[in-house]
Amino acid sequence: MVDNVIQLNGVSKSFGKKTILNNISFTVTTGEIVGLIGPSGAGKSTLIKLALGMEKTDGGEATVFDRQMPNRLVLKEMGYMAQSDALYDQLSGRENLKFFAAMKDIPNNDLATEIERVAKVVELTDSLDANVSGYSGGMKRRLSLAISLLGNPKLLILDEPTVGIDPALRKKIWHVLHAMRDDGHAILVTTHVMDEAELVDRVSLLLDGKLIANDTPKNLEASYGVDTVEQVFLKAEGEQDD
Ligand SMILES: Nc1ncnc2c1ncn2[C@@H]1O[C@H](COP(=O)(O)OP(=O)(O)OP(=O)(O)O)[C@@H](O)[C@H]1O
Ligand SMILES: [Mg+2]
Repeated sequence: MVDNVIQLNGVSKSFGKKTILNNISFTVTTGEIVGLIGPSGAGKSTLIKLALGMEKTDGGEATVFDRQMPNRLVLKEMGYMAQSDALYDQLSGRENLKFFAAMKDIPNNDLATEIERVAKVVELTDSLDANVSGYSGGMKRRLSLAISLLGNPKLLILDEPTVGIDPALRKKIWHVLHAMRDDGHAILVTTHVMDEAELVDRVSLLLDGKLIANDTPKNLEASYGVDTVEQVFLKAEGEQDD
């Protein structure tokens, strides 16, 4: 069994003259949810794209399941929800799910059941046959999340999955993520919702190109002498400005 599912060793990335990630080492292992937080523009999405081979590193090494990405076989074993939805607007939700299920080689026999399963998680069952062009922003987000769950992948990478999702459903989604974690899946999630950062096993805080904190929410709160991850975030950001 591979323990380090995502591994970044000394990864750097600049755009033009601006250094976004400066010699970052970072892992996500099986059976844990890692929450990647940091101010807007800190480089969270860039870090994910480097891991997935969607952007090239300037230095260092990034692997997923011990393979350099992009790798077709690895892509089939993971679910990725990008920050902006990449959906086919002129197709229905169900047709979108069928399309992405085919890319993941989900057997035809399992297709209908699997689509029902993931649609239920995000409460889209009743809207599956409507065209995505008529979906609200939150519904599109939920469909993207459902797509990432297809095939019950061993690795889930979710870039701000709960934007536009109401609190009750958000709670249910976190319940599903925890159940997957308990089942040995690895999950990397970015969020600006600090309540959600309390629900992860490990918080990685990205600030000014560096990972300045990487620990359980409780340990971080203790070492910063505060009660919440939100206060950790604000305090760390304040210290950085000094
Ligand atoms: N392809 C690109 N070309 C040039 N600059 C880029 C590119 N992609 C990202 N950037 C810049 O890199 C920085 C980090 O962007 P990134 O999207 O990774 O941040 P983020 O932490 O995900 O922010 P947010 O919380 O707003 O999603 C930003 O300054 C952004 O403008
Ligand atoms: Mg982002």
